[in-house]
Amino acid sequence: MVISSKINDIINEQINKEFFSSYLYLSMAAYFESINFEGFAHWMRLQSKEENSHAIKFFNYIYERGGKVTLKAIEKPKAEWKSPLEAFEEAYEHEKFITDSIYKILEAAKAEKDYATENFLAYYIEEQVEEENSASNIVEKLKFINENRNGLMQMDAKLGKRE
Ligand code: FEO
Repeated sequence: MVISSKINDIINEQINKEFFSSYLYLSMAAYFESINFEGFAHWMRLQSKEENSHAIKFFNYIYERGGKVTLKAIEKPKAEWKSPLEAFEEAYEHEKFITDSIYKILEAAKAEKDYATENFLAYYIEEQVEEENSASNIVEKLKFINENRNGLMQMDAKLGKRE
């Protein structure tokens, strides 16, 4: 069954949000590079790549369902944060916003009895649980570290090992 124009549009919007997420995390990577936290920067670069893959997965899905993708302008992300904690708090807030956005697509799909989209979204719902959890864990650790230099260096080394 061809995707409805409503679901097509809402997924199109989501593609933009995923690309914005990729851009935002790349901007956070740039910020971390600028303050010489290469491990945090590495973590953000990988997160940026993941967001790009989320966007492409939605992109492919629209075509699998006979729809059409229209790419939109990507908003300019913020470039400076006061501290690693502030950056990760924003990343966590952003992920909650994305989760909410995925839930709205799910509600629209349910309302239309678009079971294929409902099924497709399961991947994102699971992914959001993981993403919120990892961002919130880092926030909690950074709060605990409370700007202590040694703690920050250790955290930087740890996040630099993300694969
Ligand atoms: Fe694509 Fe971080 O949600």
